[in-house]
Amino acid sequence: MRETQAKNGCQVQKYKMLIDTDPGVDDAMAILMAHERAEVIGLSVAAGNVGLEHTLANALKLVEVIDTQTPVYAGCATPLVHASEDAADVHGSDGFGDTAYTPSTRSAESEHAALAILRASHEYAGSLVLVALAPLTNLALALKLDPDLPLRVARLVVMGGAVTGQGNYGTVPAEFNVGFDPEAAHVVFSAWPQFTLVDWEATMRHGLDFARFEAMLARGDARAKFYDSITAKTRAWSRGRGRPKLLIADALAMAVALEPDIVTRAEDHHVGVELDGKLTRGATVVDWQDRNARPANARIVLEVDQSRFEALLAAAVGAG
Ligand code: RIB
Ligand code: CA
Repeated sequence: MRETQAKNGCQVQKYKMLIDTDPGVDDAMAILMAHERAEVIGLSVAAGNVGLEHTLANALKLVEVIDTQTPVYAGCATPLVHASEDAADVHGSDGFGDTAYTPSTRSAESEHAALAILRASHEYAGSLVLVALAPLTNLALALKLDPDLPLRVARLVVMGGAVTGQGNYGTVPAEFNVGFDPEAAHVVFSAWPQFTLVDWEATMRHGLDFARFEAMLARGDARAKFYDSITAKTRAWSRGRGRPKLLIADALAMAVALEPDIVTRAEDHHVGVELDGKLTRGATVVDWQDRNARPANARIVLEVDQSRFEALLAAAVGAG
């Protein structure tokens, strides 16, 4: 997306990308992918995988490793309403595999992430692609401040949910990004007329062979070495749980954001968020038969071209 493709003589609109993120090792891969192929105008950072102090430090370290001037904005330190468990067991207590990396000397912008999202939506009205890879707290806050936000955003791609209830967090059907802040997801899903949803179940269908992935990292450049170091713990954790494949949820969502035609199967349906229910809080409830009157608010990605997905991963770490 970085280069403008000229089609039949005219320039295809050049999109700008803003990534809302809670790095987190799979966020890291998505951010590497984005900087390889898109014009990234900012990272808005939320709490999620680990606390905001770590997700912010990780985002600053990552832009330093990528050697880019992408601005980083600190967002909300807690979910909108209820406190939630983080995912340090998956990502390490610092969110980046506890490697004790040398912190970046860079600092975050003074502007709050929610305000940065709104400003960017005006600055790049009609050409901004928002990629939401974290709990949706920042985006929900931005929507509460300005309900017209969706009118100015060209595309919203959300990594979140588990569309048939095969989740990975809290209650059985909940996926982490939605389950960590269900109220925020409800605000976003209720306000956004049409967004693209890349869920946990699609992530499980597009897992990566451990050995092939590690061979790819071995072929890569400094980005690959950094990514290899911060993901060692998560890969060991995945293997330890007997997962047959390596799952990189945010990378799959980023692949869809970068190359929308990578999607080979998708369906448009209404998706809601369960806020109560001891057994179901944080569930994404899909109206598969379109039985209720509410229009489809989500394009649910069901399948992508796996080889193109893996090519984007390789390019992101210099192993293309
Ligand atoms: O369920 C996977 C999602 O939760 C990913 O975004 C991961 O980074 C965590 O935030
Ligand atoms: Ca994430």
